[in-house]
Amino acid sequence: MSISKTEFARRRKNLMAQMEPNSIAIIPSSREQVRSRDTEYPFRQDSDFYYLSGFSEPDAVLVLLPGRRHGQFIVFCRERDPGMELWNGYRAGPEGVCERHGADDAFPVGDIDDILPGLIEGRDRVYYSMGRSAEFDRQIMGWVNSIRSKESSGAVPPGEFTDLDHMLHEQRLFKSAAELRLLRRAGQITVRAHQRAMRSCRPGMYEYQLEAELQHEFASGGARHAAYNSIVGSGENGCILHYVENSGKMRDGDMVLIDAGCELEYYASDVTRTFPVNGRFSREQRALYELVLKAQAAAIAQIRPGNHWNQPHDASVRVITEGLVELGLLKGRVANLVKREAHRSYYMHRVGHWLGMDVHDVGDYRVGGEWRMLEPGMVMTVEPGIYVAPHNTRVAKKWRGIGIRVEDNVVVTDEGCEVITAGLPKTVEEIEALMAG
Ligand code: GLY
Ligand code: MN
Ligand code: MN
Repeated sequence: MSISKTEFARRRKNLMAQMEPNSIAIIPSSREQVRSRDTEYPFRQDSDFYYLSGFSEPDAVLVLLPGRRHGQFIVFCRERDPGMELWNGYRAGPEGVCERHGADDAFPVGDIDDILPGLIEGRDRVYYSMGRSAEFDRQIMGWVNSIRSKESSGAVPPGEFTDLDHMLHEQRLFKSAAELRLLRRAGQITVRAHQRAMRSCRPGMYEYQLEAELQHEFASGGARHAAYNSIVGSGENGCILHYVENSGKMRDGDMVLIDAGCELEYYASDVTRTFPVNGRFSREQRALYELVLKAQAAAIAQIRPGNHWNQPHDASVRVITEGLVELGLLKGRVANLVKREAHRSYYMHRVGHWLGMDVHDVGDYRVGGEWRMLEPGMVMTVEPGIYVAPHNTRVAKKWRGIGIRVEDNVVVTDEGCEVITAGLPKTVEEIEALMAG
């Protein structure tokens, strides 16, 4: 495990330090999801739950009770069961959770209805992320109602419910040294995966064959799963922002857009490269590609403490608008075009998002109505793109159906920023050289 037990404990301590006195936080694990009949999707623990515990089993509930003398960190989990474990794998059980994950106390999840109301009772405030699971929302209400039903005998139900997300997600936004190490390692595996895909690409291959190359490199690097469904879109498919069919045959003369990143020990990477299927950029592909690259460089140049969240985006919009005017895809004065957001016909998404345990990671983008200032330890993607719709008759035919995005992962540092996926070829010359090799 690359996040130490001490760090998990520090996270809980930080969260509890912000909770109101005499309060309780309740965080359920993810549930297993059926994929077909009696077969489940690979289980992925809820990021908040894992962030606070390092415990990766389903059917668990984590409880924090700041200041409680008989233990502040309580876990409900599955009991050990040799029969079940023989078929479905190892379970920590309550004892294991105390030993390995630092719980002060742990109980079988089957006993939660008997025990949890007693822990809630008498607490003024409950922190809980309402609305994520209808079933768990109902359970929480059931526990509160069971306390209410005993009010005449002196039981005191909680008076306030507070959403846990804001406090917890603010903490997750700032990455520790150990988290940054994992994000860098995830980035390195992803860089190797994209390199492998570029090297193996040939006209006539299918998009899913490039996906297979990515998966091979992810898994053999120790990251069994992608952080999101890999996008491999050649030709016009590159213009579909979340294309995941990956079923097309890649044609000589087309570009292919790969947006794929692995998840390593719960930390995501999110990288995009677009390159010619045959290894050589055409004149139009090169013109648009170099414009996207220039927009990305302009955005990255804005990432430093003291600048706000939107400055990189604005920089990318300006460069793309100017470039599209130069190439004749937009007509008019740049200042006017920027004002009326003319770029949005070609560049319809934002320049990036926070990155961490979730690919679109948690954390506010605005604070008090204003764009948030960038601070060291924040991690984001920078991913401008240009997508010329295949049926856009307002532009010359030669541009139509070209979709390009370039995406890297960037950490805000004290002095500026660090591009943690910089090892992956990006210039036209670098890509052509790699593919020719
Ligand atoms: N892969 C999704 C994104 O780039 O945001
Ligand atoms: Mn992406
Ligand atoms: Mn992204």
